[in-house]
Amino acid sequence: HWTRGAGRKIIVGVCAREKKAKSKAMNEILSRLDRKKFQVLIFGDQCILQLPPEQWPFCDALIAFYSTGFPLAKAEAYAELVKPYVLNDLSMQRALHDRRCVYDLLMENNIDVPVHAYLNRDEPGGGRLEEFDEFIVVNGMQINKPLVEKPVDAEDHNVYIYYPLSMGGGSKRLFRKIGDRSSEFYPDINEVRSQGSYIYEEFVETQGTDVKVYTVGPDYGHAEARKSPVVDGKVNRNEAGKEIRFPVILSAAEKEIARKVCLAFKQTVCGFDLLRVQGRSFVCDVNGWSFVKNNRKYYDDCGQLLSEYISAALEPGKISGLSA
Ligand SMILES: Nc1ncnc2c1ncn2[C@@H]1O[C@H](COP(=O)(O)OP(=O)(O)OP(=O)(O)O)[C@@H](O)[C@H]1O
Ligand SMILES: [Mg+2]
Repeated sequence: HWTRGAGRKIIVGVCAREKKAKSKAMNEILSRLDRKKFQVLIFGDQCILQLPPEQWPFCDALIAFYSTGFPLAKAEAYAELVKPYVLNDLSMQRALHDRRCVYDLLMENNIDVPVHAYLNRDEPGGGRLEEFDEFIVVNGMQINKPLVEKPVDAEDHNVYIYYPLSMGGGSKRLFRKIGDRSSEFYPDINEVRSQGSYIYEEFVETQGTDVKVYTVGPDYGHAEARKSPVVDGKVNRNEAGKEIRFPVILSAAEKEIARKVCLAFKQTVCGFDLLRVQGRSFVCDVNGWSFVKNNRKYYDDCGQLLSEYISAALEPGKISGLSA
């Protein structure tokens, strides 16, 4: 039997695929946890993939997050069994896999999302689609071109964009970056995909930049902008080969969005995408656990905040308050 507090160190379990648990950003942040107070325990691939959750090591605080091949159901069973302080809720990580669940939850929390409709081909009556030069009609709802077609599976990054005939037509296919490419234009393909379920949404005109926001708890968000893959599909990289990012200051309204996203999805560490247009911001994607890369200030802040959250959750009374 384990008892919390009582002079021993707080055990912080890191339950993620090793590629993530041992990444540079994770190392940077974990190295900022005071080893006089915290003991960091990386579960490792062998443990999480081969062993049943009953045999995973004990921890007081759990950093657990999905990436390809992560055994989410086992992690949920482990959290249920051990009841550690969980930084990023696990059942919500299941919701993050379905873009429809993500949009529904955003809307329930009064967060703006693009105008959209769901085409559910696996549902009786959910797959009605009519196509026209300037728009499509999805289950009775008109979505104007340019429009974005996103697979309902959030892990599927084959997002397509269709242009109206009045703009020349054609479509653009985005994909996971390959070298310096992130999308390709197909001037002669105008018909949407005929298999699978999708979200169709109107294109938000952002002048070509995406804003990436990274929360560490509801009151902290780091933001940076990048060229949208929609522009020309060429990834801007610096001499070191890193994608070029631009500094961004979030507005008060955007900070409120960050707060709501973090709380609604119960993900302390959470990345999401904002589309900025004419003084309004729409959330088009929520990714869950994600760190800012190569930013010392962020590593410092994140290490500090995670220490505070874990301490506050596990030794109430001992910690007087959180720093701003
Ligand atoms: N409604 C929209 N209007 C304009 N651009 C959009 C819209 N939705 C998505 N995009 C563009 O397409 C890109 C990919 O969309 P999204 O982030 O939803 O997909 P993803 O594959 O889940 O991305 P990620 O790599 O962040 O997980 C966005 O970064 C943005 O540039
Ligand atoms: Mg995205």
